Amino acid sequence: MKIKIESVRSIGKKTSLLCAFVIEGSDKASGLSELDSKTSDLIKQSLSDMGGKFGKITVIPTKSPAQRIVLAGIGKKEKFTEDTIRFVSGKIAQKARELKLKDFSIILPPSSVFDTLSSASQIVEGCKLSLYKFDKFKSEKENTIPELSIIVPKSEKISKSAKISEIVSDATIFTKSIANLPPNECTPTTLANFAKEMAKKNKMKCSVFSKNELKKQGFGGIIAVGKGSKNEPKMIVLEHLKGKASEKPIVLVGKAVTFDTGGISLKPGAKMDEMKFDKCGGCTVLGIMKAVSELKLPINVVGIIPSVENMPSGESYRPGDIIKLYNGKTAEILNTDAEGRLILADALSYGEKHYKPRAIIDFATLTGACIIALGTNVAAIVSNNEKLKQKIIESSKKTTEEIWELPLNEDYMNMIKSDVADMKNVGIGRSAGTITAAAFLRNAINDTPWVHVDIAGVAWTQEATKEKPYNPKGATGFGVRLILDYLQNI
Ligand code: BES
Ligand code: MN
Ligand code: ZN
Repeated sequence: MKIKIESVRSIGKKTSLLCAFVIEGSDKASGLSELDSKTSDLIKQSLSDMGGKFGKITVIPTKSPAQRIVLAGIGKKEKFTEDTIRFVSGKIAQKARELKLKDFSIILPPSSVFDTLSSASQIVEGCKLSLYKFDKFKSEKENTIPELSIIVPKSEKISKSAKISEIVSDATIFTKSIANLPPNECTPTTLANFAKEMAKKNKMKCSVFSKNELKKQGFGGIIAVGKGSKNEPKMIVLEHLKGKASEKPIVLVGKAVTFDTGGISLKPGAKMDEMKFDKCGGCTVLGIMKAVSELKLPINVVGIIPSVENMPSGESYRPGDIIKLYNGKTAEILNTDAEGRLILADALSYGEKHYKPRAIIDFATLTGACIIALGTNVAAIVSNNEKLKQKIIESSKKTTEEIWELPLNEDYMNMIKSDVADMKNVGIGRSAGTITAAAFLRNAINDTPWVHVDIAGVAWTQEATKEKPYNPKGATGFGVRLILDYLQNI
């Protein structure tokens, strides 16, 4: 999608669609007052008809210079959030696509109500993300992407902010488009190839650990889970080291189970297809690394993605097995469907040992219990560090990728103690499933500041997912915008 920033003088220029935001109850559409009086009368009438109700899009055919004027309701002032402009911009973009337009223009909302830089970036995010469609496997592709002009009073700083949002949105789309791939098209090997290809384009270092290397170096969790599948496990490591050499990196870890059948503890058939999304954590890390490099952030960031396919076979790991993880701790397997924590534990320990990071953040579609606890619109976080956690919460408020903290204390740590090994890979019954999984991860690191994000409910659109234009059906890319906001602010 091409994006242009234009000055307010171009309100009178030719465009297929000129859109202004309307506050509920207001008799003005900001920016449209400069139009000729005939058009103005038309707008006045439509304004009172549509009333500025949130999400309402009204198309008014006009003559010239704009072929259509669109009024986009943004609701009551008291109800404005960090998502208002993003959400409504998405609706406008989808309207432009529905009308099969080549281009459309949006007038920046008044700076008296919305911060100019944030609204520019939210318009970009809302429009770009809402026009993404997973149509790789459709013979007939119907997705036409119109060009966007953002019309602003003064343009200097806004171009930069729009450019950043373009990179961030492209990274989110990159994440979605890999996460949406079916499991026959995306194995650990293909995922590693996507990572290598992206790294090469961006001149970033990418190493891929093969099954043999993983075995040799003691990645007992990744090897155990990966054993049952013909598609061999991999671990992808991406390095963006553009900060001072003395500065400790931030390590990002993402679970990438390209398909989770549950293994020998086989999952029931219903919705098992959705377990193609069990690689979403890894795809999120991949997208973040892409943007970090394109934004040329002057910091050190490392992305680690353990990737396996969890399959039942004569070679699979079993309930009852005892395995040794990368940090030397042993784990008793009681359920082969609790595989994510095993591969993540190895990757977390490796990240801490090799990079001595100042922070570790991991993303994983880790537990069904997370959906029971928080539903499908809020991710769970568990952390050992107040300061890091607060920063992530701040970013979450800005990007509207909602998170909620769950506690982790000694009592929960005790729930994963095993009679025969250092830990077991499940807790007690179904109690606090999200927290006991996090407790397992907590054992993989020492005292490095850490935030774990369980994205089981939010990584793709599910039954109870709130509809948002910028989250069309399928993978959502949750976490990409969140962590990029955090990384840009340190
Ligand atoms: N990938 C699943 C978690 C999941 C399930 C995410 C459904 C989103 C939707 C994970 O590997 C898993 O199977 N977890 C088990 C753990 C249990 C066996 C302790 C679960 O949540 O049932
Ligand atoms: Mn599982
Ligand atoms: Zn899983």
